[in-house]
Amino acid sequence: MSGHGTPIPMTSTPCGPLAGVAEVPGDKSISHRSLILGAMAVGETVITGLLEGEDVLDTAKAMRAFGAEVTRDEDGTWHVHGVGVGGFAEPDNVIDCGNSGTGVRLIMGAMATCPIAVTFTGDASLNKRPMARVTDPLALFGTQAVGRAGGRLPMTLVGVADPVPVRYVVPVPSAQVKSAVLLAGLNAPGQTVVIEKEATRDHTERMLQGFGAEITTEVTEEGRVITLTGRPELKPQTIAVPRDPSSAAFPVCAALITPGSDVLVPGIGLNPTRAGLFTTLREMGADLTYENERIEGGEPVADLRARYSPDMQGIEVPQERAASMIDEYPVLSVVAANAQGTTMMRGVKELRVKESDRIEAMASGLRACGVTVEDGPDWWSVAGLGAGNVPGGGTCASHLDHRIAMSFLVLGMASQQPVSVDDGSPIATSFPIFEPLMGGLGAALAREAG
Ligand code: S3P
Repeated sequence: MSGHGTPIPMTSTPCGPLAGVAEVPGDKSISHRSLILGAMAVGETVITGLLEGEDVLDTAKAMRAFGAEVTRDEDGTWHVHGVGVGGFAEPDNVIDCGNSGTGVRLIMGAMATCPIAVTFTGDASLNKRPMARVTDPLALFGTQAVGRAGGRLPMTLVGVADPVPVRYVVPVPSAQVKSAVLLAGLNAPGQTVVIEKEATRDHTERMLQGFGAEITTEVTEEGRVITLTGRPELKPQTIAVPRDPSSAAFPVCAALITPGSDVLVPGIGLNPTRAGLFTTLREMGADLTYENERIEGGEPVADLRARYSPDMQGIEVPQERAASMIDEYPVLSVVAANAQGTTMMRGVKELRVKESDRIEAMASGLRACGVTVEDGPDWWSVAGLGAGNVPGGGTCASHLDHRIAMSFLVLGMASQQPVSVDDGSPIATSFPIFEPLMGGLGAALAREAG
């Protein structure tokens, strides 16, 4: 598990053109939800294209601990025999969610209205992250939680036998919080209502509908009002997980900044609540096109084609777009360093409570590579040096954060000097084939002796 093993120092050396087809793995958000909803349905859910990264494998393990049967065929097809809404059994042991905030927060929601007690833990990164944002609304159902100071893991939740339905306005833009409340609402009688002021990824709502729950979303002056009718019988589904736009971001951005590149990234989910990075890159002048646009499994999908774009300009990223690209700001900052002019990113304080403080992690590493970055509590800006002008040469700390590690390795592909990261092991949480995939396109990535 990431952060539990030996660190893997890695270096990315400036490389020639990146070319070819980049088949990135399945969507992490949709993969977690497929396993959890599969475990809450009655009967067998079949999943293809599941992301087999450590985060999702930890969720699969957790679903087994709650009594679901979860198996994998040799060809990578997964089967989940669910126990039904409210049917989770009490696990015999602590649930270790590794590095995954999504895993732990969604599972907390799913067990919160079952009469069981569960202790959760994670790695050094996850055990620093705030959980009160989930346990506060779960307390409204009647769920109790006791954790470390500041609402940190390890933490025990005592699920409630007779939950009441909840009406909750989500105070931070967070799909994890929204989803936790909805999953808890599944086993509450009556209607649970979640209101979000800013739209966040809507995979939970789409998937609940697919599994046969009664769920509606209304856009009102108050925001998006999501109403779920409790205690449905969820019907098992056949799910084809689309490829992850957040993983696609790495080969796409690498191609845009590496001279002569032309990379095709096929079958990428372009749900509007996730695709903000690609819109931003196009506004910066990236040669990024959508080919073969289609709908697959209820989600919009396209093949992305990214070509070297030496004339990109820094922009002010619209704040209202933040939630739709929240995981992509680290790699956007790498593109911004290679653009002309300043890129300003505002309304992004959530970046400070991800797997790491992503503003701090990127700002320090970019500065170590010769890039000027300014930052405040909920904003940061990167002064672009223009294509090919980033000095590089730094060793950057990844802080147990997969996206930080991958972003700096992308930076090294187009810098003047190599860029190193102290630990590439967290990459396995979301993008286990990152090294061979990027190497196959022409990147020069090497593991150093520790
Ligand atoms: C996710 C939601 C986002 C995102 C995370 C995945 C999800 O977190 O950063 O990688 O699958 O619901 P927040 O809900 O904290 O914004």
